[in-house]
Amino acid sequence: MEVSLIKIWVFYIFLWFSYKCSSLPLCTNLREPVKQNKALKFCEYNGTMCCTSSQDSGIEKRFQAMNISNDSCGAVIKSILCATCDKYSAELFKVKSGARPVPVLCEANAPAVKLSSISNPGNSNFCSEVWDSCKDVSILNSPFSPSLQNKAGVTQNSSASKLIDLWNSKNDFCGNFGSPSGGDSVCFDGKQVELNETEKILPPEGMCLEKIGNGSYLNMVAHPDGSNRAFFSDQPGKIWLATIPDIDSGGVLGLDESTPFVDLTDQVHFDTNFGMMGLAFHPKFAQNGRFFASFTCDKQTNPGCSGRCSCNSDVGCDPSKFKTPTSTSPCQFHTVVAEYSANGTSSAPSMATNANPAEVRRIFTMGLPYKSPAGGQILFGPEDGYVYLMIGDGGNEGDPLNFSQNKKSFLGKILRLDVENMPSEKEIDDLSLWGNYTTPRDNPYADDKDMASEIWAYGLRNPWRCSFDSERPSYFICGDSGENAYEEVDIITKGGNYGWPMYEGPLIFTRKDTPRNTSAGSIDNLIFPVVGYNHSEVNKKTGSASISGGYVYRSNTDPCLYGSYLYGDLYGENYWTAMENPKDSGKFTSASLPFACARDSPIQCTTTPNSPLPAIGYVFSTGQDNKKDVYILTSTGVYRVVRPSRCNYTCSKENATTNAVPSPPTPASNSRYIRPYCTVALLAFSLFIL
Ligand SMILES: *[C@@H]1O[C@H](CO)[C@@H](O)[C@H](O)[C@H]1NC(C)=O
Ligand SMILES: *[C@@H]1O[C@H](CO)[C@@H](O)[C@H](O)[C@H]1NC(C)=O
Ligand SMILES: *[C@@H]1O[C@H](CO)[C@@H](O)[C@H](O)[C@H]1NC(C)=O
Ligand SMILES: *[C@@H]1O[C@H](CO)[C@@H](O)[C@H](O)[C@H]1NC(C)=O
Ligand SMILES: *[C@@H]1O[C@H](CO)[C@@H](O)[C@H](O)[C@H]1NC(C)=O
Ligand SMILES: *[C@@H]1O[C@H](CO)[C@@H](O)[C@H](O)[C@H]1NC(C)=O
Ligand SMILES: *[C@@H]1O[C@H](CO)[C@@H](O)[C@H](O)[C@H]1NC(C)=O
Ligand SMILES: *[C@@H]1O[C@H](CO)[C@@H](O)[C@H](O)[C@H]1NC(C)=O
Ligand SMILES: *[C@@H]1O[C@H](CO)[C@@H](O)[C@H](O)[C@H]1NC(C)=O
Ligand SMILES: *[C@@H]1O[C@H](CO)[C@@H](O)[C@H](O)[C@H]1NC(C)=O
Ligand SMILES: *[C@@H]1O[C@H](CO)[C@@H](O)[C@H](O)[C@H]1NC(C)=O
Ligand SMILES: *[C@@H]1O[C@H](CO)[C@@H](O)[C@H](O)[C@H]1NC(C)=O
Repeated sequence: MEVSLIKIWVFYIFLWFSYKCSSLPLCTNLREPVKQNKALKFCEYNGTMCCTSSQDSGIEKRFQAMNISNDSCGAVIKSILCATCDKYSAELFKVKSGARPVPVLCEANAPAVKLSSISNPGNSNFCSEVWDSCKDVSILNSPFSPSLQNKAGVTQNSSASKLIDLWNSKNDFCGNFGSPSGGDSVCFDGKQVELNETEKILPPEGMCLEKIGNGSYLNMVAHPDGSNRAFFSDQPGKIWLATIPDIDSGGVLGLDESTPFVDLTDQVHFDTNFGMMGLAFHPKFAQNGRFFASFTCDKQTNPGCSGRCSCNSDVGCDPSKFKTPTSTSPCQFHTVVAEYSANGTSSAPSMATNANPAEVRRIFTMGLPYKSPAGGQILFGPEDGYVYLMIGDGGNEGDPLNFSQNKKSFLGKILRLDVENMPSEKEIDDLSLWGNYTTPRDNPYADDKDMASEIWAYGLRNPWRCSFDSERPSYFICGDSGENAYEEVDIITKGGNYGWPMYEGPLIFTRKDTPRNTSAGSIDNLIFPVVGYNHSEVNKKTGSASISGGYVYRSNTDPCLYGSYLYGDLYGENYWTAMENPKDSGKFTSASLPFACARDSPIQCTTTPNSPLPAIGYVFSTGQDNKKDVYILTSTGVYRVVRPSRCNYTCSKENATTNAVPSPPTPASNSRYIRPYCTVALLAFSLFIL
């Protein structure tokens, strides 16, 4: 009795947290599903899916080997085997929390818990249907064998078995394989998962900003200790520790430009395109004092600035034949990720108000081909603790050497590096590493000799500002700046190819000096942007545009923005909100987002003549504090998104947020290292099935 109460309780917790596990359509290998031109022969799947025709025939063989004599049982088992082809198969098979041999089967009789919306009503009794049609039918190598469920102490023979030989009752069976339909996480009902659109989401009336600082920064990183502090860095190479004023307090940023946290300007080469581009603090900074800066350096002026050149024989690039209009040779400038420490300046790193500018360790160095920007943002993955390093194609119009598609080049890529496990000198040599890092085992090309193992995603032009959705870490979203025509927003997935330089956003790209070739773009499995904008839509005067990627807004300060992805254009005249519908579908529509400055802004905003918009200047970057409030970093200062009513925007939800969707328990500030949600779900789920 007590045990079953605990089971039910644990099950509720599981449901609660599995809601937080909800994620993008992903395949069981955690890659993005692809659009197949033909329907499969055996499995009834068409359109975007996770199977190729050869995987389809593999499933057919496996099905035939099960030797199922009863047709109705055969049909449900076939559909279950084919669920690996579903575009939500990672979610159906709970891959991130330990993987199951059978997808989560929809079941009405499982304890019903009302969650926010019914997105996947499904055939609510599919689990019962499986039991009813198969309980007396022999199945060879049954996927329902309890031994496959890691049930301690039970070993099963792989000979033919019936469900009634394996499980005591339907309740027993569906307690293990079923999940209530109607929850926010998907379950399998025998057919392709199709999420229904939720009610129409109206774009918010506008985004209200207050100005809280005058400085111009490229990076803002919330203090990993969870406090109301954040680090800001500027392009020349200084980092400051600032206190963030409470929302609605009328306060300004507590930041004294004359006393930086650390000054790295001696190491950084700064000019229009170059400087300190990225800043990241180790999730356990409060304990270990580790932080990382990404910047460009000049070999001619800084002796510590040297490393392998991105133009080398591995990538089919000959530096001696290399013409570069603006510098004497390729690889005068390098992009560097260096580690620093806040140890020793105070009793504990979280108390530190300054740090040692001496580099502790060189994480990464790469010579740049041209005198052009090459991204350089760095982020710690919220789930895996690895460093993601964003690198542009190196410039020079249209990626003439096709670096972004080159399997051995790091240009036009997102790299994923482990800075926890350091290599030995020997490993650095043997593996030809570009610095002091190791490559995570589950990187997409870790075992692919043709492709550099550091690569997480490729085919990007200049990923300018990426972020992880703080509630759904599988949503790793980047603005990728285009060249002549289109600015794009991409959801970055493992091993994804985003198409540059064959495509600029959804448009086939051709360099100015080459004739348009519409067949050149035919390459498989490209991932296209979720939203974006044409250059012609913005900055009518100059026609130029450059995206500045932002955040999925997760603060309750403006409830009308909650859950939408905010992004802007460098020129500061356009902002957009991208709204997803159905939820968890990866399908977004964008809408222009007007913005205004609060009448009671602590620092008055400058107005633009003949325009309703405040003159916020160039939008360099976006930041997020520990309360998930969002900040826009521009050439004129720091702007925070505040309550819409402070700008006279109407948002009916503004003062009614306390009893809305329950927010997850706030993780203890420094346990941010591994997001607790899915981990707890796994724990709770394994307790439940015991
Ligand atoms: C898939 O097949 C169904 C039914 O045969 C059809 O209605 C649907 O349009 C197809 N979808 C695609 C993307 O081809
Ligand atoms: C398949 O099932 C039939 C009866 O339905 C049985 O005669 C045959 O031996 C089985 N084959 C295998 C390989 O078990
Ligand atoms: C298949 O099994 C179900 C349930 O055991 C039974 O009702 C049905 O008649 C069987 N069908 C055939 C063709 O044997
Ligand atoms: C399954 O059981 C049968 C009969 O008890 C036995 O002959 C066979 O070797 C067993 N197979 C495995 C894989 O244990
Ligand atoms: C979902 O969409 C289908 C097809 O449009 C419709 O039949 C069904 O009623 C919808 N379910 C809900 C819960 O809206
Ligand atoms: C910001 O600049 C304005 C205008 O120069 C000035 O009035 C204000 O005091 C400054 N505020 C802060 C916090 O530096
Ligand atoms: C900083 O201090 C932490 C905790 O004592 C220690 O683990 C780490 O190695 C130190 N780092 C440096 C660079 O001294
Ligand atoms: C590893 O770090 C050490 C210490 O900073 C540095 O001397 C060495 O050059 C680095 N190795 C590489 C390959 O960057
Ligand atoms: C770039 O590389 C891709 C992938 O190898 C290839 O399909 C494409 O044609 C190349 N483009 C150019 C301009 O070389
Ligand atoms: C266009 O591209 C295709 C495939 O890369 C190539 O075979 C063809 O010769 C190209 N045509 C022109 C006119 O460049
Ligand atoms: C805001 O709305 C109030 C009431 O409608 C009005 O009195 C006020 O002038 C408006 N302020 C601005 C800046 O539009
Ligand atoms: C919400 O509360 C603020 C101040 O408490 C008020 O100014 C604003 O008008 C209210 N908004 C709505 C939509 O009721």
